[in-house]
Amino acid sequence: MTTNGGDRAGVTALGAYAPARVLTNEDLESMMDTSDEWITTRTGIKRRHLAADDEFTSDLAIRAVEDLVARHGDAALEGVEMVIVATNTPDALFPATAALVQDRFGLQAGAFDLLAACPGWLYALGVARGLVASGQCRKVLAIGAEALTKIVDWNDRATAVLFGDGAGAVVVGPVPEPFGIKSMVLGADGAGAQHLHKRSVGRTLPNGDPLAETLYMNGREVFKFAVRVMNTATIEALDKAGIHSDDISLFVPHQANLRIIEAARERLELEPERVVVTVDEYGNNSTASIPLALRKALDQGRVKDGDNLLLVSFGAGLTWGAGVLTWGGAR
Ligand code: ACO
Repeated sequence: MTTNGGDRAGVTALGAYAPARVLTNEDLESMMDTSDEWITTRTGIKRRHLAADDEFTSDLAIRAVEDLVARHGDAALEGVEMVIVATNTPDALFPATAALVQDRFGLQAGAFDLLAACPGWLYALGVARGLVASGQCRKVLAIGAEALTKIVDWNDRATAVLFGDGAGAVVVGPVPEPFGIKSMVLGADGAGAQHLHKRSVGRTLPNGDPLAETLYMNGREVFKFAVRVMNTATIEALDKAGIHSDDISLFVPHQANLRIIEAARERLELEPERVVVTVDEYGNNSTASIPLALRKALDQGRVKDGDNLLLVSFGAGLTWGAGVLTWGGAR
């Protein structure tokens, strides 16, 4: 897929934000019947960042865009004609959280929220790619922002220890060959809806079970699904891009569980140095996890222009997404 001028759609700027408040496994030990040992061995998580009581998804999204502007300058937002906020925790059902971001930065742009669970940011990247490649938008601001800790059940130790808050924002715009988004795989299997859900205005799932008032997850079922789909989706994304896992410089998976990341890494036959892991620091912050992980890898000097990055995510729906992005080319 190329833009009108023969360019591809690619990432031209990236910012991220994690809230200041940190909750460690030791903190959780004093709140519920759990242990640092259980959480670390089962998930790899050591701490997570929590939005303040008066800090919501729009605030996190705006902080991520402020970080993007601080790093890349105001010019990075010039030409943004659409704002997409991928989130499971919008401030409101309406207006869209994206509209609040549009207003804060005074953008002459459309704005909408996108709900596809944890892979939502990859879905946003795919939509942004299409909007840029078709010529409909010069640039798109694609954000993943999440205040998940506001919807977890703090009495359910099986889920409360897993999640965190945060945001990541990218500008998608035209970049010259050989840079840009090379492939994108987006999938869903709604037959698995009962494994991960939270009520909005509905009452039941298709199978008649009641929708959960707070985040409900069948961890074992999601684990099995995640290991399977991380494998199939990454292989499909590599095939679509016409490359092999040997050509991948860095694997940036959704940060839900270190064991799931390790299983995917082994299937792809990648050395540990080629995998970005931030789950220890942030826990699972859903749509924010990949852009936050990518920001960290950039800050650590682990990404250079021309590198092929393999991205993959999975979540409620059930949904999944994967893609290959060749980094660089911002003008
Ligand atoms: N502390 C101590 N013990 C616990 C805790 C805890 N926090 N949570 C559960 N346990 C106990 C259980 O009660 C159970 O005890 P029992 O054997 O006496 O019944 C035991 O630990 C094992 O529980 P399991 O659920 O079998 O543990 P498992 O090894 O499957 O790990 C986990 C659970 C970490 C949730 C895992 O299943 C997982 O990571 N699943 C995938 C989750 C995921 O990736 N979700 C991403 C999508 S999120 C989204 O889209 C919003």
